[in-house]
Amino acid sequence: MTIDALRHSPEQLRTRIADELRRARDRSTVLTDAVDQDDLVRQHSPLMSPLVWDYAHIGSQEELWLVRDVGGRDPLRPDIDRIYDAFQTKRADRPSLPMLSPDEARAYVAEVRNKALDVLEHTPFDGRRLVEAGFAFGMIVQHEQQHIETMLATHQLREGAPVLDAPAPPAGCAPARDEIYVPGGMFLMGTDLEPWALDNERPAHAVGVEPFWIDTDPVTNARYTAFIDAGGYEDERWWTPEGWAHRHAAGLRAPQFWHRNGDTWWRTRFGHVEPVPADEPVQHVCWYEADAYARWAGKRLPTEAEWEKAARYDPESGRSLRYPWGDEDPAPENANLGGTYLRPAPVGAYPAGTSPLGVRGLVGDVWEWTSSDFRPYPGFAMFPYPEYSEVFFGPEYKILRGGSWAADQSAVRATFRNWDYPIRRQIFSGFRCARDV
Ligand code: AVJ
Ligand code: FE
Repeated sequence: MTIDALRHSPEQLRTRIADELRRARDRSTVLTDAVDQDDLVRQHSPLMSPLVWDYAHIGSQEELWLVRDVGGRDPLRPDIDRIYDAFQTKRADRPSLPMLSPDEARAYVAEVRNKALDVLEHTPFDGRRLVEAGFAFGMIVQHEQQHIETMLATHQLREGAPVLDAPAPPAGCAPARDEIYVPGGMFLMGTDLEPWALDNERPAHAVGVEPFWIDTDPVTNARYTAFIDAGGYEDERWWTPEGWAHRHAAGLRAPQFWHRNGDTWWRTRFGHVEPVPADEPVQHVCWYEADAYARWAGKRLPTEAEWEKAARYDPESGRSLRYPWGDEDPAPENANLGGTYLRPAPVGAYPAGTSPLGVRGLVGDVWEWTSSDFRPYPGFAMFPYPEYSEVFFGPEYKILRGGSWAADQSAVRATFRNWDYPIRRQIFSGFRCARDV
């Protein structure tokens, strides 16, 4: 969604919302139709829900917010609220829930959508903050897209013959220089203007940073392999105490889904076994691995503020842009988003996504770990429910930025904040490094 959405007529906004809802449903339908009933209800990893849980949970949230709250309509299925409340049952225990069967889930989700579209037809976008500029609809679009990314992580963990296929990404291009200088000083972080920004992205506030260098591109598989070959996983000097303990407890020796055969590293990607491509950003590394690599390279992870300044700061105007390339919504040539290629693209494949300072690949490809904990911005106000962000604030979560190849453009902005535990790597996570001047 754009700042222009504020200037959209209600009819234009309705059309746009209906399109976004349809795009999300097309994706979740593909991911659930790709596997059989048994695969839908099975747990592919204790880290993940059964695919059919995510699918019905998408419908349940849509019912709660759009049909019941915005629409004021009667509940369709109050009996299943508890089953699809993420806070009632942790992921590992969800297979034992009395979930809707795949057929029941499909019927429920479709019925909710019909009602939600009817609510959309009859809702003025004013009067309540929840519906201003279509916020509740935007929140539900983003929620479905976020769960689609989670479902892709489940697909990646699923064993067996491939069921998902995709074309090859565009070709990459070597960077003119490895690092970019980011001037010190204030910039505007966060946003007050994005109508569909979530509560943790607000409010906009001035933040000062010291001058620093940041990598032009995310760290590639080739560079990460050099760290492995240099014995990086065997050398305690590069790891924090927690990271070193976790590296041993979990037996980490390479990114998840990699295995070595002779001199070559291979990876399994949605059931396809292929040589690890040298020029793609490394993915499926945890925060501890990213942090250790950075120390080995004589660098460090960027802070969240540094990442956002590198992504948004326009030195000509002093403004913070909505995206690295400007204020326009993402187009296919700007970034590798939306799951088109089912993988990151080689670095440099999206010259039209470069930031004003010359930093590349900030949006799309891989979520980028930062050194920062998930904390509220000064002046944070929870909206519309505490379980989106507020209950997660604290030192146990690290911030990731930029969105992955699996993320949809409706759920990624240069202000968007993602977070996870520092041990997690089934997500589409990579990183780039920074260093002091
Ligand atoms: C923002 C991606 C961490 O998937 O746990 C989905 C998004 N919140 N349903 C998550 C979310 C509620 C959330 N992340
Ligand atoms: Fe959810």
